[in-house]
Amino acid sequence: MLRKRGSLILCGTLLFITWNAILVRLLWGRPPPGQLGKPGRNEREVAERPTNDMVGDVLHMADTFEAELKRQKNILLQIQNHQSLWDSSKRDGPKVTVPRQPVIPVLVIACNRVSVTRCLDKLLQYRPSAELYPIVVSQDCGHADTAAAIRSYGDKVTHLQQPDLSDIAVPPPHKKFQGYYKISRHYRWALNQVFKTFSHSSVVIVEDDLEVAPDFFEYFQALLPLLKSDPNLWCVSAWNDNGRDGYVDPGQSNLLYRTDFFPGLGWMLLKEVWEELEPKWPTSFWDDWMRQPEQRRNRACIRPEISRTLTFGRQGVSLGQFFDKYLRYIKLNTEFVPFTKLDLSYLKEETYKEALEKEVYSAPVVTYEDVKQGQLKGPGPFRLHYSSKDSFKVLAKNLGIMDDLKSGVPRTGYRGVVSFFSRGRRIYLAPLPGWTQYDTSWN
Ligand code: UD1
Ligand code: MN
Repeated sequence: MLRKRGSLILCGTLLFITWNAILVRLLWGRPPPGQLGKPGRNEREVAERPTNDMVGDVLHMADTFEAELKRQKNILLQIQNHQSLWDSSKRDGPKVTVPRQPVIPVLVIACNRVSVTRCLDKLLQYRPSAELYPIVVSQDCGHADTAAAIRSYGDKVTHLQQPDLSDIAVPPPHKKFQGYYKISRHYRWALNQVFKTFSHSSVVIVEDDLEVAPDFFEYFQALLPLLKSDPNLWCVSAWNDNGRDGYVDPGQSNLLYRTDFFPGLGWMLLKEVWEELEPKWPTSFWDDWMRQPEQRRNRACIRPEISRTLTFGRQGVSLGQFFDKYLRYIKLNTEFVPFTKLDLSYLKEETYKEALEKEVYSAPVVTYEDVKQGQLKGPGPFRLHYSSKDSFKVLAKNLGIMDDLKSGVPRTGYRGVVSFFSRGRRIYLAPLPGWTQYDTSWN
């Protein structure tokens, strides 16, 4: 489009110059009648010694000249008018009615798995706008086949390659964890690209073994304002650690939570938080490091009832440790929830805290046996208590929810409360009333 307009200007200008050249030739170059071949006759002399014939000629030419100038003035005015349509300073003016949504880049962390195509295909399938959601694939490991797979997307994605592929010196007992050191190095480099080189103000990080849900982009677009405005939030995640089929309410795909546990696995981060973390970014195990109190500083993340990401990476750095037990069963949301049109004010900290206290601590207390034997009377919700690290672990294991704690925080927990679904009822696995803080020795 711009090219077409550019050539229009060029044509107009050429036409203008050519026409003037012709006129000049006609006016001054044409030998006056009866003077042919006479030397020393310049234009001035011609003008000074007019004949009747010449005056008529010149007047006629002046008329033509005047008409032509008018015509050319019109052409130039038209060019000027069209220019205002593609001149960016004017295009951004008040005539533009489309509301401006923030740009949220998606950073895909890749290494040596060609199956990154599954991740990219879904991102591209559900992406509502290439302008609002530029996809940056950062590749570590220098794996040629994976690089070729990424390149095959052409300019639909930006392909970056992490330049430092050297081995990392690790303490001998950590030799088997070399992979975690490389992941950490890669994250730091890739996030610096997004925030420092490309100057974005937010990012959604996706690993190459994640598949996203249809409303993935809608979810992050809707939550960005909340993340920006709430200093006690530091991430929005697409992941529910206990989101297995049967443990989530299929009728509540629009339900969101606050959680003190950093879930990762498809998550949004702001530039300000990155600037805080980057200088002390760890050499390995970056996700567990984020879960430590010094980093988390009592901040929470938003997470959904039903995951907006699914992991298909059994063959990973952690060698499928959790994959076969839990991860492969996490249910991926299938229907599109119009989050940007929903009222999400229930997620604001004070509102949320109060509502949760009320909901959890007014729910009837039940025992593990009641839950297991399906003897719960009424529609719920119900409350199950734990009072120590061990009672939490035993209950979690028996109930089939994740039993590990990081820096004292159970997966998906908010103020110690783990919410899950069982046989059509909402259950809160909760600490005794009066809870004040996590015990970081619970691990
Ligand atoms: C687990 C976590 C993952 C976290 C990682 C680091 C789950 C399901 N996964 O990794 O979110 O980031 O621990 O603590 O909890 N990669 C590189 N360079 C490498 C190797 C891998 O950049 O040398 C990339 C992969 O492309 C992938 C990510 O790092 O995007 C995680 O690697 P993966 O092999 O999937 O390890 P997990 O065990 O899933
Ligand atoms: Mn993985």
